[in-house]
Amino acid sequence: MSDYETILVEQRPETNGAVTLITLNRPQALNALNNKVLSELIAAFAAYDADDSQRCAVLTGSEKAFAAGADIKEMSDQGFADMYGNNHFGGWDRVVATRKPWIAAVSGYALGGGCEVAMMADFIIAADSAKFGQPEIKLGVTPGMGGSQRMARAIGKAKTMEMCLTGRMMDAEEAERSGLVARVVPAADLVEEAVKTAETIAGMGPLAALAVKEMVDAAFETTLTQGVAFERRLFHGLFGSEDQKEGMAAFVEKREAKWKGR
Ligand code: CAA
Repeated sequence: MSDYETILVEQRPETNGAVTLITLNRPQALNALNNKVLSELIAAFAAYDADDSQRCAVLTGSEKAFAAGADIKEMSDQGFADMYGNNHFGGWDRVVATRKPWIAAVSGYALGGGCEVAMMADFIIAADSAKFGQPEIKLGVTPGMGGSQRMARAIGKAKTMEMCLTGRMMDAEEAERSGLVARVVPAADLVEEAVKTAETIAGMGPLAALAVKEMVDAAFETTLTQGVAFERRLFHGLFGSEDQKEGMAAFVEKREAKWKGR
């Protein structure tokens, strides 16, 4: 456990600590993301990344709200020099820099910065109650934590433009149909299902998991030819690992692989 103020961090016992559950915990503000939440998430994700016993993480909120956005009250009086000078929201790049896999488990509102943080995850599992939106235009601003870019890559231009220009919410069914989320589950089962999925990932070879994340992310940064070459080089590189020998031997010998992360 941890002494954070705005998040709870737990290595789930039923996974022998391999799955780390990070829960946003500012219920009085529907988990609005202020500077304190950001600094605690940066620390929690860095600790997760640094500990070999932790193999997959889940970020979740409450039943009512994953997060209702960046903290409007914290931002409302800021001027250009404050926002630009302090590179406001720049710290989220450190969360995105997490090398190991993590899943966003979204129940209720994921609005503005909440939707943007969910889209920073490797994938989203949504409760049937989830509502996604980029309503910043109603506040006289725009997405500022990557929403316009990540949403456009996830669901395409037409829906992203519509979402960002009208500020409307998208329910879980539409989010799954649009490719914003990987899977929808009953709200009551959300955390259990996300932890179970994370446990499956935690049971894979750690180097292969890092490589999958790196190569899929590269698909959004490169041409097809460069991306395929990058994938192939990472694939080749894994043949220098003990885990590749172990994984293939275990298949041939019809037994479970014992990963070393080397
Ligand atoms: N920032 C600060 N406080 C927030 C907040 C936010 N984003 N969202 C909710 N809260 C606070 C409310 O002010 C309220 O606090 P008080 O009790 O002290 O008044 C408390 O959380 C509960 O909220 P509501 O009473 O509004 O709850 P509701 O059930 O009636 O409505 C809601 C829920 C529709 C989500 C509504 O709270 C809402 O519209 N929130 C703002 C959503 C939004 O605009 N998000 C975008 C923020 S800007 C942004 O994220 C920029 C970016 O790109 C990163």
